[in-house]
Order: sequence, then C-alpha cells, then structure tokens
Amino acid sequence: MCCLFAVLIHGYLKEKVIEDTHERARIVLGLMEAVGAYAADTLRPRMMNVVRELSGEDEFIAEAMSTTRIRHGIMRFVGKKHSEFVYRRVADAPRNSANLADPFQRARLAEFRADPERVEWHGVHERDGSRYFSILRPIAVHDECLKCHGSPEEAPVGRPGWPCPPAAASPSAATVGAGPRNGWCR
Ligand code: HEC
Repeated sequence: MCCLFAVLIHGYLKEKVIEDTHERARIVLGLMEAVGAYAADTLRPRMMNVVRELSGEDEFIAEAMSTTRIRHGIMRFVGKKHSEFVYRRVADAPRNSANLADPFQRARLAEFRADPERVEWHGVHERDGSRYFSILRPIAVHDECLKCHGSPEEAPVGRPGWPCPPAAASPSAATVGAGPRNGWCR
C-alpha cells in the first residue's frame, strides 16, 4: 500500500516535471521565433538597404542578417545564466557545418518530410548520456530562402567567414530543439 502510494507519487511528480519542462521549453522556443521574425521582417531588410546604399551591392553580414546566427548568438548569452536550455536551428545540408543535424534530429527531419501535416515532435530522449526534453518543429522553406540556401553563385556576396558549402544546400525541413536538461530520471 505504502509502496503503491510512493509509486503513484513518483509517477505524478515525473508527469509534473515533464509538464513544467514542456511549458518552459515552449516559452523559450516562442521567444526565439519572435527574435527570428524581428530579424527577418525588420532588421535584415533595413541592414540590406543600408549596405546596398553604402557599397552598391548585396553584401551579406551574417551577424546582422542571418536570423539563425542572431538567434544562436542570443541563446549563447541566455545560456550563460540558464545553461539548461539548448536551442538549435539545424539542417542535414547546412550552410554552416556547425548547424549539422545530429542522428536524432535527422531521424525527426525524415519524419517531418514523410508527413507534411506534422508540425511538431516533443518528448524525452537521450543525448550524450543525459536525458533531455526537446521540442522540434519543421521550418518551411520558400523561394526567398534559396537565394542563400540554393547554389552558392546566387547567394549575396559574403564577408570572410561566409559559410559557403561547395554543393547546393537546402535547409529543406530544418528543426529546432529546446529543452532543459532534467535530472528526474537519474
Ligand atoms: C540572405 C541569406 C539567407 C537567407 C535569405 C536565408 N538564410 Fe538561412 N542561413 C543563412 C546563413 C548564412 C546561415 C548560417 C548561419 C550561421 O552561421 O549559423 C543560415 C542558416 C540557416 C539554418 C541553419 C542550418 C544551416 O543551414 O546552417 C536554417 C534552418 C535556415 N538558415 C533556414 C532558412 C530559411 C527557412 C530561410 C527562408 C525563410 C532562410 N534560411 C533564408 C543565410 C540565409
């Protein structure tokens, strides 16, 4: 009886931790989506205009124009205080090799591609010996994306450090994952 109670309590607490973690991860993801929207709708067009006026060409400055670079940059600062959160935009043929999807993310990418109706995966999974709660969402690709994710020849002129893989690289259905590492199962 006592054991049954303990098991029930354990089950309840585990559910509660997962629920809380899900909610926190959802908030982080929502904030990152907002950062990306601001960068794409407001910052990037303004910067592109300024740079075009100054240099006469479409120069690309990743730190100020890549919504991925901006999001990852902000998350690095968030991570200094809240290292339990990890946020990544990944692809299996990325512009920047640092954004290469890992095997777990690649498997989810394949599922998203196989089922276009699927808009999210979330749950607990193992990674590097720890357990994570992750939310992964597919990122839709439009024609405008292929300006930089299609052939390198069509991409805007880049500064040194512009990650230009030799082959055409489309993000197809990239994913984001966010999730506090949680210790409840250890
Ligand atoms: C003006 C150029 C440009 C455009 C347009 C652009 N991207 Fe990117 N994107 C980049 C660069 C540069 C990176 C690598 C950033 C870094 O260094 O982490 C990147 C990275 C990414 C990544 C992470 C994986 C990778 O390839 O490194 C995803 C996912 C992504 N972009 C999706 C998109 C989508 C979806 C669109 C269209 C809505 C888009 N991008 C439009 C330049 C662009």
